[in-house]
Amino acid sequence: MPPHVVLGVSGGIAAYKACEVLRGLTETGHDVRVVPTAAALRFVGAATWAALSGQPVATEVWDDVAAVPHVRLGQQADLVLVVPATADLMARTVHGRADDLLAATLLTARCPVVLAPAMHTEMWEHPATRDNVAALRRRGVVVIEPAVGRLTGADSGPGRLPEPAQILEVARLVLARGAAGLAPDLAGRRVVVSAGGTREPLDPVRFLGNRSSGRQGYALAATAVARGADVVVVSANVALPDPAGARVVRVGTARELAAAVDAAATGADAVVMAAAVADFRPASIVSTKIKKDDAGGVPAPIVLERNPDVLAALVASRRPGQVLVGFAAETGDAAGDWLAHGRAKLARKGCDLLVVNEVGEGIGFEVGHNSGVVLGADGSETVVPEGSKAALADVVWDLVAARLPAG
Ligand code: CTP
Repeated sequence: MPPHVVLGVSGGIAAYKACEVLRGLTETGHDVRVVPTAAALRFVGAATWAALSGQPVATEVWDDVAAVPHVRLGQQADLVLVVPATADLMARTVHGRADDLLAATLLTARCPVVLAPAMHTEMWEHPATRDNVAALRRRGVVVIEPAVGRLTGADSGPGRLPEPAQILEVARLVLARGAAGLAPDLAGRRVVVSAGGTREPLDPVRFLGNRSSGRQGYALAATAVARGADVVVVSANVALPDPAGARVVRVGTARELAAAVDAAATGADAVVMAAAVADFRPASIVSTKIKKDDAGGVPAPIVLERNPDVLAALVASRRPGQVLVGFAAETGDAAGDWLAHGRAKLARKGCDLLVVNEVGEGIGFEVGHNSGVVLGADGSETVVPEGSKAALADVVWDLVAARLPAG
């Protein structure tokens, strides 16, 4: 049986992008019923939805009453996905309204629900909408964080619908969890993930950096969104598409990352430090490009100074119940193997969990897969076999969820 998806469409200009989401769902074998609101039909007509889905389209509970669609659609769905979700639709959902077919479907659905909001920044930032989003997330609804960018008119800001490919990715992850009978166990939780690698400038064209691609951090963000969390990603020099549903704060250097993580960590239930943070930076940044003939062709030594240890600062200022996770890429040496170094680092860092992986040729960095051991401050050791970065991310969130105080 193909998965049954109800694609709700509420009345915003971004409704046209829902056509592409619909196309993506049907092309990947989903059985999709489109339920637009009456306002949505002012933007995209019923004929488009019916043709693209191959299914009849209704907006009101009074259409085709004999089939009791206002109850049946929600009951039979494996996923209800609303693209775009307007401020009005979310307000109606929070209050359990059932005044059209989409609202009634949201009230009867027992499957995972994903809302992709799109609206003007003022509406998104209004306290009424903030409260509604928070209430929906607490109830386990996955509310995708809107993108920041050009809105309907010339204005720009948060409130733009994320790209259809990103919405489809969230839907895929949420459907997979739903099919496995897994609840959105991070619903109502706020989490922060740092991702990528910092760059410490040397002169206007050069920096000291590292090989972190940000893939593991972005996989952590995407899986946390699918598990219902409100996610902030502090992203250091990552050249990947933004993980849908997360708020992305871009940084360059370790000190910028420290400030952004510190700000986002206030009030967060968990912080996962997946970023590779430079321990040292050049003591001075040369304002003009260093030339090879400078100082008579002899390169001047690069003097380094210490960067802040972000994880150590988080441990020092941790609020009660906050779960802190570090990552460590280790190699074995004369003093011990990679895992022994990991155990010593966990003790030194004082975090709750440390994900340790061995690095070397072809493992760890710049690849799509990962493996490792997650060490717990309580002495637990969870071996994660070679697999996708998303699989490792899920193990991390399982361990985090088990350590969070009851919400
Ligand atoms: N980390 C951090 N701030 C730093 C360096 C590292 O917050 N200045 C975090 C990383 O994000 C990671 C964890 O600490 O989650 C471990 O990073 P690692 O570089 O392995 O730790 P170090 O304490 O720098 O250990 P080492 O001496 O092995 O480099």
